[in-house]
Amino acid sequence: MISKKMTKALNGQLNKEYHSAYIYLGLSAWASEKGYNGCASWFMVQYQEEVAHGMKLFNYLDEQGASIELKDIKAFNFAGTTLLEAFEEAFAHEQKMTGWLNELSDLAMKEKDHATYNMLQWYVMEQVEEEALFSDIIDKMKLIGDNGNGLYNLDKELGQRTFVDPTTQA
Ligand code: FEO
Repeated sequence: MISKKMTKALNGQLNKEYHSAYIYLGLSAWASEKGYNGCASWFMVQYQEEVAHGMKLFNYLDEQGASIELKDIKAFNFAGTTLLEAFEEAFAHEQKMTGWLNELSDLAMKEKDHATYNMLQWYVMEQVEEEALFSDIIDKMKLIGDNGNGLYNLDKELGQRTFVDPTTQA
């Protein structure tokens, strides 16, 4: 059984995962509108990943017999104009997610809630992968700059990404 405080905090994270999904859905729509179809597809895969992250928390709360609260999902509107800005905004968001997950882990440790702490370590490691993924794409985009051919090829490369449910991976 997890505490009321932990339940509230995990429900907050559940909402943040779905807000993340919303962000990537929004970026996918934006990229598609601009003709970056590969990136649109890449962001759509990321959207699916975030939904899977949300479901993992949902299932954990359910298994623990905790109350699940589905709150409003904050709106997302991308105000940038370039692909680099889109990925930088996403990267900054992922860094915030990492911070929140670390805070959740701290709380679980403080409460000696080993099951929740253990479950959260999956997210902590998932964030390491996500941050590396975004950072790598941003580095490539910075190298390419305004080169149309380079952007065209990178868009094509990113379009190859396929969805593999991360929660089924070790
Ligand atoms: Fe679920 Fe990208 O953090």
